[in-house]
Amino acid sequence: MEKKKITIALDGYSSTGKSTMAKALAKKIGYAYIDTGAMYRTVTLYCLDNNLIDGDTVNEAALEAALPEIHITFKANDEGRSETYLNGVNVEQEIRSMRVSSKVSIIAALGFVRRDMVRQQQAMGRDKGIVMDGRDIGTVVFPDAEMKVFVTADPMVRAQRRFDELRGKGDTTTTLEEVLANVTERDRIDTTRAESPLRQADDALVLDNSHMTIAEQDKWLMDHFNRLTQ
Ligand code: DC
Repeated sequence: MEKKKITIALDGYSSTGKSTMAKALAKKIGYAYIDTGAMYRTVTLYCLDNNLIDGDTVNEAALEAALPEIHITFKANDEGRSETYLNGVNVEQEIRSMRVSSKVSIIAALGFVRRDMVRQQQAMGRDKGIVMDGRDIGTVVFPDAEMKVFVTADPMVRAQRRFDELRGKGDTTTTLEEVLANVTERDRIDTTRAESPLRQADDALVLDNSHMTIAEQDKWLMDHFNRLTQ
């Protein structure tokens, strides 16, 4: 008999490796994977490219009017990895830059942006069989998800991981201190914003991966998935 399909919500702090583990899990169990952070990053990129952000101030009226013209899609590349497109253009690399990272929390704090993203995310997950990662998936997008995981790790461990990633991508100027400041500042904005702040759902399983290997983490997830779907 085919196993019943469930909804898997992965929430948690930035740079905890949520996306990597969500992708690996989705691939292993044959589920679709949606990176909701990529959606907020793409809206941020659109704002930067269209001069809708000045310092920390967003031209909210113009952004609200432009939202229907911002089409975000995901497409698998040749290696089967999901990549993000903005109005048909591949923006996967650009949305991971510090330019976008330093402004994304401001955009993700806007209620009208969140409502639009949540509506799209709920439509994508209508048929279950999905792994979705973000900040509000288990609390707002899919409060009835059968499997909810809240991922956390020490801020310094997270900063070092993001720093290594940036160096690996050829960024030789951003310092570890700057990355740590960005991680800490994003934690602060994500947890204290008025609209859907990051918080652990009451029924979420907590995964602290500060001192876990990828293999240990993957096994942890698979054990819980198997338990919940047997
Ligand atoms: O997961 P990430 O670092 O790519 O997320 C980018 C930003 O978007 C982060 O500051 C929090 C925000 N975000 C959110 O508010 N809600 C989500 N569901 C996903 C991300």
